[in-house]
Amino acid sequence: MQLEDQLPRIRKLIKEKLGTIPKNTLQNEELIRNAFRRLYQALPRMIRMAVSENLFVEFCMTNRERLINISDSVSEKFSEAENRFNQQYQTNNTEDSAKTVNVRADTSKLLETAKKVFVPTYSPNLILSRGLGAKVWDRDGNEYIDLGSGISVNSSGHLDPDLQNELYDQAGKIWHTTNLFLTEPTIKLAEALVNATFADRVFFCNSGAEANEAAIKIARKFSSLVHSEEKREILTFEGSFHGRTLTTVTATAQPRYQQGFEPLPKGFRYCPFNDFDTAAEMIGPNTCAVMIEPIQGEGGVNPAKTGFLQHLRDLCNKHQALLIFDEIQCGMGRTGKLFGYQWEKSRDSEETEGAVLNEEKIHHEATLSDLTPDIVTMAKALGGGLPLGAMLCTEEVAQAFKPGDHGTTFGGNPIVTAVAAAAFRKINAPEMMQQVQEKGAVIRKHLDSLNDELSLFETIRGRGMMLGAVLSKAWKGKAPAMVTACQEQGVLLLIAGPDVLRFLPPLNISDEELETGLNYVSKALRNVHTSELSASE
Ligand SMILES: Cc1ncc(COP(=O)(O)O)c(C=O)c1O
Repeated sequence: MQLEDQLPRIRKLIKEKLGTIPKNTLQNEELIRNAFRRLYQALPRMIRMAVSENLFVEFCMTNRERLINISDSVSEKFSEAENRFNQQYQTNNTEDSAKTVNVRADTSKLLETAKKVFVPTYSPNLILSRGLGAKVWDRDGNEYIDLGSGISVNSSGHLDPDLQNELYDQAGKIWHTTNLFLTEPTIKLAEALVNATFADRVFFCNSGAEANEAAIKIARKFSSLVHSEEKREILTFEGSFHGRTLTTVTATAQPRYQQGFEPLPKGFRYCPFNDFDTAAEMIGPNTCAVMIEPIQGEGGVNPAKTGFLQHLRDLCNKHQALLIFDEIQCGMGRTGKLFGYQWEKSRDSEETEGAVLNEEKIHHEATLSDLTPDIVTMAKALGGGLPLGAMLCTEEVAQAFKPGDHGTTFGGNPIVTAVAAAAFRKINAPEMMQQVQEKGAVIRKHLDSLNDELSLFETIRGRGMMLGAVLSKAWKGKAPAMVTACQEQGVLLLIAGPDVLRFLPPLNISDEELETGLNYVSKALRNVHTSELSASE
């Protein structure tokens, strides 16, 4: 094998690049394989062009004992890391009690600094330093299973080798041009999105709020060109979340996000979510657009009722209004279809709503649903972990924007779109969509059986791998404390308001990681249950 000639060089690279891998890792097939994948990406381009990643990784796996020749300073690093690994392994295996989380003094100091230097919009207590797949580590070496994916962003996990490859490759070419010029990755991603969806055209930006801002602006512009001056109203739904810019916070029909920021932009009206009759009363001749999340995320993982999205489509058709789906959280395969709205009117939507899927029923439906929006917004997982938003629309709507009507400096950055295209290829695949449905069913089943034991949840709602466990009356308001207990146990989870635990794991999480993560959740919630009960006695 020609690769043999490269052995000395590869060995040197291994020492440089993999020096901090614990020796125990040698016995862990998955970790060592990932380490070799990382190594592949660090190899000179010449070698990567000559040898495929799979071939390289298999070669390294067969020769792993020879390749990892621990010596000199590298062995020191190894034993340091090994000690940390052993310590962690022991603490991780302490049964039943909460894990001991190591926190170094300089970490506490950094946390103190963070408290002083940031505008206090968040109150985080964890400094993460690396991630791999569905796992992340804090700077003190404590390991966590990430069941929140950075709020539905890291759908391909952390450091996915294909995404990393694209990142390194594009980073060696060009980083930024602004939209006065084109780059190939950006064109390719736009083309992939157009080919895979209802849309004819795409506008790239950097975030979800900007994607919604673009959607609102284009809907208003479209209306201004085609309709009377009165037709400018945008209808959104109670419990929604559409972003934090002044306009998107106004579209967000939740007063707590708006208070103090008045005066708010005009022209928004709010309708109760899933209320067929009120929607019919509120959508009328002055409605320019209706904007809705097919599954509300921040508002508590709340899916639109079967038929509601179609009802809105019919009303929009009747009153010549545009229908906008905010797929920022529930899109990009999160629910087991590319978009959350595609469950509407699809063959299996009625059967699976709110139910645990049984195996025969799990199948990927390749055909799109009959429902077609005018505009869809995407962000979060679209960038594969890098900031990217997109507004997708039909040809007719797109023509409302002329050069100079809207713009962005960074939107569609070539590094981000190169990574996003790899993420899109991986996610928008029938096998992946099927896995999402299967793994979602595993999570539901686990939570159902935990609930049989502890009676914590009123219901489990959502679709695929976007699930919310709604706390029962006795446990209302306790979601933040439960998430803290989960973190102490070694699993990162989200809330969606004070009463809902939100599960958004990486879509490619391994069965083993998912099972471990869910077991940690169970352990943490059992601890909360026990301590609450003893406190109330
Ligand atoms: C449905 C939805 N829309 C819009 C946004 C805003 O996205 P961003 O935070 O990227 O601006 C979010 C963020 O959570 C979201 O969940």
